[in-house]
Amino acid sequence: MREQIFAFIGGGNMGRCLVGGLIGDGHPCEHLRVSDPDPERLQVLHERFGVRTGNDNRSTIAGADVVILAVKPQVVRAVVEDVVETLRAQRPLVLSIVAGLHTGVLRKWIGPKGIGPEVPIVRAMPNTPALVRSGAAALYAEAGSVGRGHRDSAESILRAVGSTVWVEDEALMDTVTALSGSGPAYFFLLMELIERAGVSMGLAPESARLLTLQTAFGAAKMALESETPAAVLRAQVTSPGGTTEQAIKTFQDCGIESIVTRALRAAEARSRELGACLGES
Ligand SMILES: NC(=O)c1ccc[n+]([C@@H]2O[C@H](COP(=O)([O-])OP(=O)(O)OC[C@H]3O[C@@H](n4cnc5c(N)ncnc54)[C@H](OP(=O)(O)O)[C@@H]3O)[C@@H](O)[C@H]2O)c1
Repeated sequence: MREQIFAFIGGGNMGRCLVGGLIGDGHPCEHLRVSDPDPERLQVLHERFGVRTGNDNRSTIAGADVVILAVKPQVVRAVVEDVVETLRAQRPLVLSIVAGLHTGVLRKWIGPKGIGPEVPIVRAMPNTPALVRSGAAALYAEAGSVGRGHRDSAESILRAVGSTVWVEDEALMDTVTALSGSGPAYFFLLMELIERAGVSMGLAPESARLLTLQTAFGAAKMALESETPAAVLRAQVTSPGGTTEQAIKTFQDCGIESIVTRALRAAEARSRELGACLGES
């Protein structure tokens, strides 16, 4: 099968990391293109990965099988409007990673459904650990326009930098944003607090840091490599009358479950608000 041509609009953090992931997966560099206004960023991308770069979005996406929108939400409408004729003429898969951008809004900008073959649209929500190829992303395919091959192409791009899941209800992208999109910060917060508590209890800062980070990494690795649910793993390391039990009881007495649920719901509500603003822009 012919290697597909992937064209990235936006070569910033996410664009660069997806390009790096695809190259790492063996995707040929001559089939990857990136456009961005910053010549230095483009030079780095070209030198590091050998990909074709340019600052003209229209020529970058000409002939591409997949166009990846990797620009900030503030500029995405202008970017799409600038390339819309090429999209309509060539009908590549449009994969948007723009946070909060609903497929319905993108559809409105690209062109209404029902007038001949449509430009297929997939929306994805990656997260920052994609930068170290340990991301978690959810994807949503617009109903009706996206075929099996499009799904596979979109998934292969996100899978190059981590794990993927599909959601079939676009409203769940706000939940995903609250969980895995913002999630790295929750774990950073916990690490920060554990490390600080360790230091306040007498550990050297560098020891507290190493012990905290390796514990977080080890716990995540154990959970990922096991079929056992987290609650059971926790029970297995919580001996009755032991130290862990005391700590867990303290967390629970302080209402950790309701804090976590409230925090995620607040993030989800904010994601909905930001998405609505983008739709009105
Ligand atoms: N980073 C994450 O962890 C993460 C997670 C989930 C979703 N996302 C989404 O991914 C998208 C990109 O995020 P990012 O962190 O990669 O942002 P970023 O580092 O700012 O990258 C965006 C790039 O697009 C460039 N750009 C601006 N206007 C352009 C135009 N007209 N044509 C082509 N390129 C243009 C920017 O250049 P200038 O800087 O010169 O303007 C910048 O290099 C965002 O929509 C964000 O919501 C990011």
